[in-house]
Amino acid sequence: MPEETTGAARTHRLRVVRVIAETADAHSLVLQAPPESAARFTYRPGQFLTLKLPGADGRPAARCYSLASSPHTGEPLKITVKRVAGGHGSHWVCDQVTAGDELEVLPPAGTFTPDSLDRDLLLAAGGSGITPVLSIAKSALAAGQGRVVLLYANRDEASVIFRDELRELTAHHPDRLLVVHWLESLQGLPRAERLAAALAPYADREAYVCGPEPLMDAVEQALRAVGTPGRRIHRERFFSLGGHVFDAPAQAVGADVPAEDCSTAEAEVEVELDGETRTLAWPAATPLLDALLAAGVDAPYSCREGACSACTCRVVAGEVKMLRNDVLDDEDVAEGYVLACQTLPLTDRVAITYS
Ligand code: FES
Repeated sequence: MPEETTGAARTHRLRVVRVIAETADAHSLVLQAPPESAARFTYRPGQFLTLKLPGADGRPAARCYSLASSPHTGEPLKITVKRVAGGHGSHWVCDQVTAGDELEVLPPAGTFTPDSLDRDLLLAAGGSGITPVLSIAKSALAAGQGRVVLLYANRDEASVIFRDELRELTAHHPDRLLVVHWLESLQGLPRAERLAAALAPYADREAYVCGPEPLMDAVEQALRAVGTPGRRIHRERFFSLGGHVFDAPAQAVGADVPAEDCSTAEAEVEVELDGETRTLAWPAATPLLDALLAAGVDAPYSCREGACSACTCRVVAGEVKMLRNDVLDDEDVAEGYVLACQTLPLTDRVAITYS
């Protein structure tokens, strides 16, 4: 059975075809979707999968892991998991998962993905933050025209994930890819003032940054100091998820929405998703995502708590209200983007699009 049918959790069972020990504390899982689910596992470079894992308390837990594979090279789906101190999920994956196992997985999601693979890109990663960044780099080199500079910070040489793959990529694309390694054991911490000198020649590029918060802060500070506008600096956000991600819609946040947050009893929403348009009832106290899932619409999501942006869509008519937003910036909101998992209707008719 490829799909988990309980509640609204649209998980799919993916087979682990291979486990690769990348470093002493990072494992990659090569995954295969069954033929009937394959279409749901097309993805954009930089996106992540959400895995349903056993939590420390025995209840299901959700963990997001970025795809290190590229959708443009013909390689299979691959996620990479690095052990996190005290992190039950990462230890479970590294210690328990073997080839032949099946994992329950939500389809790819996330907005840490370039609009165009043809532009010159500046990529910056720290530690396991290389995972989505490598996917973007491989995709740009395989399917785009631009040049790519990748700054990759690690504690020491032994912690460098994908060292051989990066070396091969550089050998294949010597004129388009430059990888700059930053090893703390040799060069010290990558602080903003030192990074600014290294990044200044690339200040006019679109920048994608993923890694520990201090590294992302330092890269962003450095880029702003050399004149990169904030809108060109894209950071991947990390967040922890509760097991409620897999709950049925009625058990999710909609049940807790106070009545004063709604000004219409039931709205009608026209939804455009994957080239299809449907019109549905949207109960006033129910977040849009829950209304869509309950109606059988296969809308994208991951965290269901306003933290990941996987459910982002755009309002094209009517008015809505967001209960929580930890991820969209003012510019996004001004353009009509909302988080479906946190959005309630304010007018009787609303139209939204996922395109
Ligand atoms: S599903 Fe993560 S913000 Fe909505």
